Amino acid sequence: MCGIVGILSHQPVAKRLVEGLKRLEYRGYDSAGIAVINDNQLKRCRAQGKIVNLDDCLAHDHIDGTIGIAHTRWATHGLPTEENAHPHMTETVAIVHNGIIENHTALRDELSAKGIHCTSQTDSEVIAQWLTVFEKESDSYVEAIFKTLAKLEGAYALGIMFRDDPTHLYGTRKGSPLAIGQGSNGEMFLGSDALALAGLAENLTYLEEGDLAVLTKDHIEIFDKNQKQTQRPSQHYAGGFEQVSKGPYRHFMLKEIYEQPDVVRQTLNAYLSEDKKSIVFPELSFDPKTVSKITIVACGTSYYAGLVAKHWLEKVARISVEVDIASEFRYRQPPLSKDGVSLFISQSGETADTMAAHAYAKAEGQQTIGIINVPNSSLARAVNVPLMTYAGPEIGVASTKAFSTQLCVLAALSIYLAHQKGMITDADLEAYCQDLSTLPNLIEKTLSLSDSCKDVAEELAKTRDILYLGRGTSYAIALEGALKLKEISYIHAEGYAAGEMKHGPIALIDETVPIIVIAPHDELFEKLVSNIEEAAARKGQVVFISDEVGQKGYHSQAMARVTVPETSLFTAPFIYTIPVQMLAYYTAVHKGTDVDQPRNLAKSVTVE
Ligand code: AGP
Repeated sequence: MCGIVGILSHQPVAKRLVEGLKRLEYRGYDSAGIAVINDNQLKRCRAQGKIVNLDDCLAHDHIDGTIGIAHTRWATHGLPTEENAHPHMTETVAIVHNGIIENHTALRDELSAKGIHCTSQTDSEVIAQWLTVFEKESDSYVEAIFKTLAKLEGAYALGIMFRDDPTHLYGTRKGSPLAIGQGSNGEMFLGSDALALAGLAENLTYLEEGDLAVLTKDHIEIFDKNQKQTQRPSQHYAGGFEQVSKGPYRHFMLKEIYEQPDVVRQTLNAYLSEDKKSIVFPELSFDPKTVSKITIVACGTSYYAGLVAKHWLEKVARISVEVDIASEFRYRQPPLSKDGVSLFISQSGETADTMAAHAYAKAEGQQTIGIINVPNSSLARAVNVPLMTYAGPEIGVASTKAFSTQLCVLAALSIYLAHQKGMITDADLEAYCQDLSTLPNLIEKTLSLSDSCKDVAEELAKTRDILYLGRGTSYAIALEGALKLKEISYIHAEGYAAGEMKHGPIALIDETVPIIVIAPHDELFEKLVSNIEEAAARKGQVVFISDEVGQKGYHSQAMARVTVPETSLFTAPFIYTIPVQMLAYYTAVHKGTDVDQPRNLAKSVTVE
């Protein structure tokens, strides 16, 4: 999704604006631009494609000034062209916009009736045009902004500059995040997320819905949605550049796959007691002893983490669980029991559908839990009980370490609730906790599989359709493995419940179709093997992923065998995710795709 950077300084800002955009590249984009005020003129550089395409324009036009705004655009309305790139400008106003203005057509028509015509195909440009109209009709820039915001329907995070007001930078948000950064020596910053301000800001202030921030070099003034002056908490920001560097790795995704032992350890440490014999949770806003049903809502990989948790919560805690895709849940609006519990999983904490689903559940009187990786994100600030993951910034669009840390929190929650409800004994609790505490080393051991995954990936890269099969929690890992592969290698892949093969998908099987089998040696193993033998009998090219005992239990042909350590109910999803992450990564490398920023994708889907 789009990214915003703004800087108000006593020194030239263009270079740091571009550097800030580069720290946001991971979010996914298809054009970029910057605008500054210089010699009482608004000056702008925009380019289609990568940020590096701005360099020529910046060098040629000597664009610089001590106040500026910048943007990476992920096209929603209008093609990804230079003309549609932000900043959008009139002679006196420049803006950058994240979000979607739903009523932009009506606003365009009103402008046309005034003889004012937009030059781009975007929804965002109407904001710059209306600010220009109200600038002439208002006693202050703040008044002009509030008049404009009153006309907008939809979501926005905005950075705004007025040509004739070079000492102020304005930022406002509704439905899309925006942070204010304060520098050490009289500089002020705007960022659509904290990473944009890494290495720039020393303190961060997150705006609330409807807030308008008026920034000078050394002062922040905030008006709330009722146009009343207000304060928002500020906190120290230690985000340095090292968090957003690949280090020795070729891609962020590979780095983040290898960070999993550490971030799983860090996340488990936040929820396992010192002696690793019990679980510690912050104060819950509901009685854990009486929870009888949990609704889990998320998107993409986070949704698959929810599917894994369904098995754990139902099997061990005997709690009924419904798992829903946020974009379906938010419009189906299922009846929810008053004071029931809903759980929202989101790496970014900004996914529009998940946020909207949360708002519905809250309005229905649900107690809401959030499992979130980005501190102070919109969802982290909205839920009753934020349970943070500690994966650190996840830059690769394809989620890996965040998924593993989500599973950590979900496993801890399942065990905690099972014990609170008396479904497991103290001895069981200790055994489960000990099991979880083996995960960092077990994952470390599994990462050594990379060579066998590279070999398999070379073959997968030649195919057009791949099937992932599993049962129980491994069905969720089959879905996750298929998503990983398709989103970065662009090969069609499908995750399926192995027991469903005979109900249709077995018709797909022939010698051109690889079948990736997630086969922990558990109570479903024999049933799974009989499904796979039926596929192998039809020349399906089986990649059999199991532990040593399991490998001996599968006798039919296999294109390849990947052997992982022995696992349990709680550790299997973590361990079987590693080979499917690696298969996806190395297949994409073979295909030569943009592994960290796959086409058409964004790291955080902040628009629906
Ligand atoms: C996963 O690899 C994808 N990048 C995507 O499915 C992602 O999981 C989904 O958009 C949800 O994002 P969130 O966890 O930030 O809400």
